[in-house]
Amino acid sequence: MEIREPPIGVNSAPGTPVYFVTLIAGLEPIAAEELAEKLPAAQVLGALRGKLLFASPHPPERGLSLLTVENLFAYVGQLEGIPASRDGLAVMERRLAETDLEGAIAVYRRLHGRPATPSFRVTAKRAGSHDYNSLEIAAAAGAGVVRRYGWTVDLKGYDYDVRVYLTDDSALVGLRLSRQPLHERSRVRHGAASLNPTVAHAMCRLSRPTAGQVVIDPMCGVGTIHVERARLPGEAMLVGGDLFEEPLKAACENLTAAGVSGHLVQWDARRLALRDGCADTVICNLPWGRRIGSHRVNRHLYPGFVRELVRILRPGGTAVLLTQEKRLLSRLVGRSGRLEMVRQYHLSLSGMHPAIYVLSRSAQ
Ligand SMILES: C[S@@+](CC[C@H](N)C(=O)[O-])C[C@H]1O[C@@H](n2cnc3c(N)ncnc32)[C@H](O)[C@@H]1O
Repeated sequence: MEIREPPIGVNSAPGTPVYFVTLIAGLEPIAAEELAEKLPAAQVLGALRGKLLFASPHPPERGLSLLTVENLFAYVGQLEGIPASRDGLAVMERRLAETDLEGAIAVYRRLHGRPATPSFRVTAKRAGSHDYNSLEIAAAAGAGVVRRYGWTVDLKGYDYDVRVYLTDDSALVGLRLSRQPLHERSRVRHGAASLNPTVAHAMCRLSRPTAGQVVIDPMCGVGTIHVERARLPGEAMLVGGDLFEEPLKAACENLTAAGVSGHLVQWDARRLALRDGCADTVICNLPWGRRIGSHRVNRHLYPGFVRELVRILRPGGTAVLLTQEKRLLSRLVGRSGRLEMVRQYHLSLSGMHPAIYVLSRSAQ
């Protein structure tokens, strides 16, 4: 997919409401596929790393059903020519005071109703080199909004969440439509290295889900992948395991809370109590050697895991694996002689750069 730098053109769909979503960088092609499926009349207008901009004639509620994205925004505008010097703050305030939020507010009200006395906050993020920080951008933009609309600033109990994404001298402005971030789901209990549910969902989509599959997560932690797999059409038999009892107890609670049934087993992923070729799909977020384990531990864990993966995956079966140990895993996949690397997605996640690997088990 084409990745374009700002400014993003929005003239290609006059009259159609424009939105943007923010997502884990690297998931853009998977999110674009989900968008095409769930909002078929939507037109993608541009993609930046971590963002997709689209025009959609569908009701805005549909956008909230996207499961590979973190937030949905009504597009307000793209402000160009914001200086990187401290003057940029005054320019930001003035430009926001000139910015019409009415169209975005109308979409918000359709979803959440009209607040009696509106309050708001501005959240800002920036990329590039500037003589000011994100908090200062937010304060300047907020002052502009107050000048125009006179709303009260309320950083916690706000009605409207205005977002400013400044990249170099170009600011993308939106109004958040999702009350809660869309990735805050799927768990009543968290673990030491719980996976972002949007990434888990993207991995499940990549596994080509169909009904009746046997889906195994050999290192399931608190069960995020299984909960996300159950959100996709095509009911599967879900089997998960972990070396430790504590995450398995949490997984049990998370599956129960989500109304998902699965089989959870305490095991070592290097010695799975499963027969040869029983799995249609293995979806797994392996220990990255940071929050869980270490590179030294992984050098012992990964070879045994890949050996078991080859054994339990049926010929033609798919594995979708996430790890930061890219060299180690790639080497083992190459050496296995049974796994073909189909696709890779390189992510930016929690300050790290893991990759999703989609693998296919060859017939022999
Ligand atoms: C990155 S975490 C998985 C997190 C999970 N996707 C979630 O959302 O909670 C990796 C998991 O592998 C488990 N683990 C580490 N070594 C293992 C082994 N030899 N066998 C099975 N599980 C193992 C850890 O206990 C941890 O829960």
